[in-house]
Amino acid sequence: MEFRHIKKAVFPVAGLGTRFLPLTKDIPKEMMPLIDRPLIHYGVDEAVASGCSEIVFVTGTGKETIHQYFQHSKDLEVHLEQTGKKDLAEQLKKIPELAVFYYTLQEKPMGLGHAVLCAEEFCRNEYFGLLLPDDVMLADPTVLSQLESVRKEYGGSVLSLEEVDHEDTSRYGIVDAEEVEPGVYRVKGLVEKPDPKEAPSNLAIMGRYVLSPSIFRHLKGIARGRGGEYQLTDAIASMLREEPVYALIYKGRRLDCGVREGWIKATVTMAMRDPDLKKIIMDTVWKETGKKL
Ligand code: UTP
Repeated sequence: MEFRHIKKAVFPVAGLGTRFLPLTKDIPKEMMPLIDRPLIHYGVDEAVASGCSEIVFVTGTGKETIHQYFQHSKDLEVHLEQTGKKDLAEQLKKIPELAVFYYTLQEKPMGLGHAVLCAEEFCRNEYFGLLLPDDVMLADPTVLSQLESVRKEYGGSVLSLEEVDHEDTSRYGIVDAEEVEPGVYRVKGLVEKPDPKEAPSNLAIMGRYVLSPSIFRHLKGIARGRGGEYQLTDAIASMLREEPVYALIYKGRRLDCGVREGWIKATVTMAMRDPDLKKIIMDTVWKETGKKL
């Protein structure tokens, strides 16, 4: 059968972001800034660079700013043009034109699995990308494109993996898997956040997936899992009894912006790539510590 690249990317953005309270009381976690744009913008750029032309946001209540961000701000655009800031106006105009955006509501955050199920009507018959926007990925080709290359070769769904320290397995979904070529695995089982003593490996699932549309059937069949939430890993575990699931240790760097320490590190990492911002960081550290970097 002819290989058809994914066209749709799903972004679950209905979580409560409790690890960033009180900030996330009124600001969605996905709208937190990384230098000059919100986290969600990086994810959408990645999806578009991977060939996706349709973006599905699974939103929750209080997430209206995400919707607004991907729409035109006519008044602002006109104001910028009239005040000689044409470049900035052009930059803003491009945001709503990145892709076609769809929105669907997850009425209550009942887990990642439940959020993905909310996107069913948009992805019913085709493979789709799933991106968790608090992982910002620096990779070329994009992580989603790397997963697509594995799907092209082997078929089935493909998960992104990182090797983590054994004692950290309880923070991630962990796979039991057999290596089929360096860095590529056939998945035999998955466990959500296992205790290090029970973890089948140290291969942790990260926030990029290419999923078969059969996932929706399996999501409907699972019960609430760990933490009382509908877990995507439980549905993938159910799916792999019927069809292949592969996983790839992707090449690239992940900036985990879902926790405070990670977000600070990500901000410094991105700033250090810009000569002007780098100087500001160096000077600030010098001023604050008396030490030159
Ligand atoms: P996280 O668990 O990292 O996000 O979910 P969270 O629940 O918002 O954050 P904490 O743990 O309370 O700090 C990963 C992604 O899945 C979405 C989140 O918005 C985030 O982008 N998500 C999670 C949903 O859309 N719905 C859910 O029910 C749960």
